[in-house]
Amino acid sequence: MSLDLDKRQRAMLREMGVRLWQPPPVVASPDVPPAIDSVAADAHPARAEGSFDAEPQRPTPAPAPAVRPPAAAPAPAARMPAAPAPGLAPRPAGIELMAWPALQAAVAGCRACALCTSRKNTVFGVGPAAADAAPAVDWLIVGEAPGENEDIAGEPFVGQAGRLLDNMLLAMHLQRGNDDATRAGVARNVFITNVLKCRPPANRNPDPAEVAQCAPYLKRQVELLQPKVILALGKFAAQSLLQDSVPDVQKIPLGKLRGQVHSYLGVPVVVSYHPAYLLRSLGDKAKAWDDLCLAMSVAPTVVRSA
Ligand code: URA
Repeated sequence: MSLDLDKRQRAMLREMGVRLWQPPPVVASPDVPPAIDSVAADAHPARAEGSFDAEPQRPTPAPAPAVRPPAAAPAPAARMPAAPAPGLAPRPAGIELMAWPALQAAVAGCRACALCTSRKNTVFGVGPAAADAAPAVDWLIVGEAPGENEDIAGEPFVGQAGRLLDNMLLAMHLQRGNDDATRAGVARNVFITNVLKCRPPANRNPDPAEVAQCAPYLKRQVELLQPKVILALGKFAAQSLLQDSVPDVQKIPLGKLRGQVHSYLGVPVVVSYHPAYLLRSLGDKAKAWDDLCLAMSVAPTVVRSA
């Protein structure tokens, strides 16, 4: 794919730390070895260790766990609560049939896991305003979970990693939906969300039961948004979206999931590094740009009016 970059986009790419002298390849290259393993490559700074499998099972009630159980030994019985923690309730029924406003309300009121007891706000996602319907977008960006800033703001990716994500989007002619000014030639054609809609305390890794509780919300978002491409940022997004289509995805380093087009509910999925990881691993920004180019080859940006 050839990219016709104007001065502003070149500046964006410089901001991302991407060198401009070499058009990136867009063809899948399964032989490209990952520079780093999955744990180091995409973990949130404050979530530097752990994985789905390594994370110990939280002693929270989980009415309908759907993901594989973690390999870790169960918590000692003495630490298990005798009864469900107060304040929790099953996920609302019928998520798979909900319209956008009902889905938003269901997330806002969700008390299906213990994260509801520590969150300040749920973080449903951000995209162009749309009355009573899912916004019309071609792109869906999926991150891991809200952090402290997102928990306060009720919006995904508003911290430092979010600024880098915004620059990555601008390099693709995309702009998050709630900015005041629309830049010329830039489309509000993207919805940004996370695997988890609530912040894990102290920014720890999401645990499998939490991911399972939140998965129907993300699934319904995808069904209603019908994006042309999903960009999965980081290990948790990749594992969550690909667990039904990539065998043993938890064991595959993130670097090996890059460079190919996967699928979730029939929607193409491109995996890349988490922006928080890129903030401290500048050398991999060029690889992230390769991933964005691959995603753009799947879903050429269409400028939609604000
Ligand atoms: N990291 C994420 O994965 N999501 C956010 O919303 C913020 C930081």
